[in-house]
This record gives sequence, C-alpha cells and structure tokens, in this order.
Amino acid sequence: MRVLLTGGAGFIGSHIALLLLERGYDVLIFDSFANSSSNVIKRIENFLDNKALKYKLRVINGDIRDKKILESIFSKCVKENKPIEVVIHLAGVKSVVESLTNPLYYWDVNVSGTLNLLLTMKEHQCYSLVFSSSATIYGLSSYVPILEEQKISPITPYGQTKVAVENLFYDLYKSNVNLWKICSLRYFNPVGAHPSGLIGEDPKGIPNNLFPFITQVAIGRQKTLSIYGDDWETKDGSGIRDYIHIIDLAEGHLSSIDYLNTSESCLEFINLGSGKGYSVFQIIRQFELSTGCRIPFSIESRRDGDVAVSYADISKAKRLLSWTPKRSLEQMCLDGWNWQMKNPNGYG
Ligand code: UD1
Repeated sequence: MRVLLTGGAGFIGSHIALLLLERGYDVLIFDSFANSSSNVIKRIENFLDNKALKYKLRVINGDIRDKKILESIFSKCVKENKPIEVVIHLAGVKSVVESLTNPLYYWDVNVSGTLNLLLTMKEHQCYSLVFSSSATIYGLSSYVPILEEQKISPITPYGQTKVAVENLFYDLYKSNVNLWKICSLRYFNPVGAHPSGLIGEDPKGIPNNLFPFITQVAIGRQKTLSIYGDDWETKDGSGIRDYIHIIDLAEGHLSSIDYLNTSESCLEFINLGSGKGYSVFQIIRQFELSTGCRIPFSIESRRDGDVAVSYADISKAKRLLSWTPKRSLEQMCLDGWNWQMKNPNGYG
C-alpha cells in the first residue's frame, strides 16, 4: 500500500516513516525541509539499509501550498500503477508564539496547504486521510480528562488553523457521506525518541517546549530551565500536561490507517495522549532519576497562552483504533536522553 506522508522529515513524521517502512508500506515523504533537516532522511535510509527496505522510500522536496507539485506526485503514482491510497498529513507550522505575530503565514500554510491537498486528493479519487490535529484546540477547556466532545476554544492563531481544518473536514464529510474516510488525531505532548537514538527531536533555535529544553540543559546547551509559573492551581503549582512517547504516537497513525481500511466512510476526531497528567516538577524529578543528570531551574512568570492542566481521555482511541500507549514516562526520559547524548547538536 502506498502512503503519502506530508511533513515526513519532521520529529513526528520521521518516526511514522520508519514504522510504515518497517511494516512494508511504500512511503512518499513530502517535505519542504523548512523546519527539518535532510539528514533525517540519511538516518532513515541507514537504518533501513540493514533491513533492505530502503527501496520503498521516496522523498520529494516541496511546499504543501504548491498545488502543481502535489498534482504531479499523485499523477505520477497513477502512471506507475501504484496510486496513493492514503495520506498522512503532518506538513504545517506549529509555533504558538510565531502564530501570534504572523497569523497570515499560519493560515496560509496550515489551512490553504490542507485545502490544496484535499483538492488534489479529490481530483485523484484518494479519499483516506489521517491528519495531525492538536490538543491546543481545547484551549481553556475547563475539565480533565479531556474528551473529544469537549468544547473547542482555541486561544491562538495556531489553534485556530487546526480548528479551521477540522471544520473543513466536517463540511467535506457531510457533502458526501459515502466518500471520505478521515481520522483527525488530536495530539497531546509527544516526547522521547526512537530507541536507536538515530532520529529524534531537533528544534531550531532555543526550544519552546519543555522536554527538548530539559535534554538541552542536561547536555549543556542551555544553562537553566525556566519554569513558567509555580502558582498554577495544581498540586505543586506547576503546569500539568499529557506526555506521550513518540513511538506510541506514531503507532496511533498506523492503527488509524488500519481503522480507515476496514471502515466505511467516516470522520473521527481522536485524542492521542497517554491519558496521564504530569507536572513540570514531576517531569524534572523523573528525568533526573532516570538519567542521573541534574536540571537546574528557576521559577519565572507564567507564559502567555498556557493553561494549568491538560490531559486526555483516550478511551475513544482505545475503542476505535484498538490502540493503547505502552511506554512509561521513564522510557520517554531515557529515549529522549539517549537521542540527545548521541546527537548533542541534533542533526547538526
Ligand atoms: C505547546 C504548545 C501547543 C503545542 C505543543 C506541541 C504553547 C502555549 N503550546 O504545548 O500548542 O501543540 O506545545 O508539543 O506553546 N514549560 C516550562 N518551561 C519551558 C517550557 C515549558 O515550564 O521552558 C512548561 C509549560 O508552561 C507547560 C509545560 O511545561 O506547563 C509543557 O510545555 P510545552 O512543552 O511547551 O507544551 P504545551 O505548552 O503543553
């Protein structure tokens, strides 16, 4: 089965690509490399070399807003008699802070880009899609664990773009309820790395997210972790989030493909998280315990756009996808640290 994986060179995409290839899929990675490194591809190829699966991977450099390239990819696959049967769409921009200063760019890439993709899919009778949505769409939702039916109230342009795409799916599905098969996966906080240490998260510049910041403090690239508030209404005052191991998250995508393959037309919005909430202080303690590294920190004021608590109810994913996250917080720390140690400067 041939899969188009947009954004396949990124942190999440590269882990999905490996899993797909290991399970025998033909994979077309489509990526602009604006926020990822071409070294990722070399790493994937090296890894696959040992397993003789390399020939199933093809990489195309392009921008999701460029409809001509998308059209040529779909057409070429038809000509080869190996049409694209399912798309995993991750290509997009994801910095909350940047989206506040440059909303047009966020709407252009995330919304217009997705529109291009859907138009092209329709033109080529490809109707199966797995999409990377985000827990950010729940915004200030007031109770946990968060269920999919909970009120959507994004508080940033980035979140708005994810909601806009989900609304578009809704209109599309309603327009012909016998056609489209869509899983929109609402990610919580993906962390950790492939246990080989070959691929992992390599944020450009200073990391915004907690986990890569911690591993960079541990390796000496950053001095001190700033904790954004110890006065939240939580048991220790720091923010609580749902961290999910990147391999568990990647497996959720493969389960989604299996689900789409066995389903009639459908549109499902599904949380992918661990279903557990951990505070910033708990994460630091666990990381120190698992790795033996010390993480110096200082308490700073709250960060704009943050919420006190966010963790998922994952019963829908378990029920529908027969998927369950298997890796512990300790595993997330160990694998994240293994990646950082083996790659002190990321893909460098
Ligand atoms: C952030 C994004 C979210 C995105 C997700 C991707 C914001 C406001 N939200 O989520 O839209 O989908 O990443 O993974 O950027 N923290 C610190 N110090 C740091 C960094 C973070 O104390 O240097 C705290 C935060 O206040 C929060 C927790 O750690 O309580 C997790 O933060 P982070 O890793 O940035 O993820 P989210 O804010 O949940």
